[in-house]
Amino acid sequence: MDISYIINQLGEDREQYFNAVSPPVFQTSNFASRTIAEMRFKLQHEEESYLYTRGNNPTVTIFEKKVAALEGAEHAIAFGSGIAAVAAAILSQVKAGDHVVCTQHPYSWTNTLLNKFLPRFGVEATMVNGTDAENYRRAIRPNTTLLYLESPTSFTFELQDIAAVTAIAKEHNCTTIIDNSYASPLHQHPIKMGVDLVVHSCTKYIGGHSDVMGGVVCGPQQSIKRIFEQDYMTLGAILAPHDAWLLIRGLRTLPVRMARVAASTRQVVDYLVRHPKVEKVLFPFLPSHPQYELAQKQMRNNSGQFSILLKTQSIEKVDLFCNSLQHFLMAASWGGHESLIFPVAANYTDDRPKPDLPFNLIRFYVGLEDPEYLIQDLAQGLEKV
Ligand SMILES: Cc1ncc(COP(=O)(O)O)c(C=O)c1O
Repeated sequence: MDISYIINQLGEDREQYFNAVSPPVFQTSNFASRTIAEMRFKLQHEEESYLYTRGNNPTVTIFEKKVAALEGAEHAIAFGSGIAAVAAAILSQVKAGDHVVCTQHPYSWTNTLLNKFLPRFGVEATMVNGTDAENYRRAIRPNTTLLYLESPTSFTFELQDIAAVTAIAKEHNCTTIIDNSYASPLHQHPIKMGVDLVVHSCTKYIGGHSDVMGGVVCGPQQSIKRIFEQDYMTLGAILAPHDAWLLIRGLRTLPVRMARVAASTRQVVDYLVRHPKVEKVLFPFLPSHPQYELAQKQMRNNSGQFSILLKTQSIEKVDLFCNSLQHFLMAASWGGHESLIFPVAANYTDDRPKPDLPFNLIRFYVGLEDPEYLIQDLAQGLEKV
């Protein structure tokens, strides 16, 4: 299906609402039935009926149809945050006594879910170095039901060979889930590589303006139906209609934003790679990166995140550099218009366990600003180190 058609038309029933170009926000909790027969029908087919907004809402449906099509999935189900989508997808695949294999360094709350939350309910997880797919195989036990991927990972941008991991999963009768937020639905298509369920934090690129939170799970009709009937309806972490409307608006400009972000990021990375005060740039699209070929093979393009290791032994110097930046904001959630840094040094505090990432690692996100404007800012910040 053509991306332009998906973004501009798919799922929109404009004759139903005066041919308005932008769909209405169906700001309602209830949908009335005129007869008991109609209500009976809706209750029997709840996953596709408009009965109550904790189940379905027409504005949310438009969004779900578009994201499913962009991912090449049969169906999608939207949530109020990315982590709600991650949690529902994982919960739908495990029960007490099961075991999950996950790549090391996933998004922090995914890590907490797997290693602190789920063990309370008898589900165990093993974290592996996912850069070698065989490590997934080695960690599989008789009770393993799920292989979880996040490619690239959030801070260190390690890739998993998606096709290789899904092949291992099929041999062992395991489900695969990938967090595809880094790539957005445009830069990587995991379903084509055999992944069962694809998750996004829509708070990131899909929303694109740092003004809305959301999540989505895409996958086969039957799996999404199961998530709807069990995890979705009981946990209630729904996407609000107005937030769905903002995410539809975000999708309209996703291709132009992603193209801009990809090109600007390469320009900024190119500057940093050559800078004498930068020890290393972690960015899989650099030809010197050990997974460059895999990145070329399984991704369509880079996105805006990468990390650097600043060439210093002093945390004060890291602080100085970060505090000196004028145009990069310091914040956690990327994918918006604004460029950002997230220094690991911010997690180095006396009252917390020492992070397993070095203090001189700084994650970057390049947004929609002029790349030269950003490079000037980096130049003056690095000058101070
Ligand atoms: C890779 C990744 N997955 C999931 C999430 C969770 O998304 P949300 O913050 O929308 O709950 C994040 C958030 O930062 C993320 O970076």
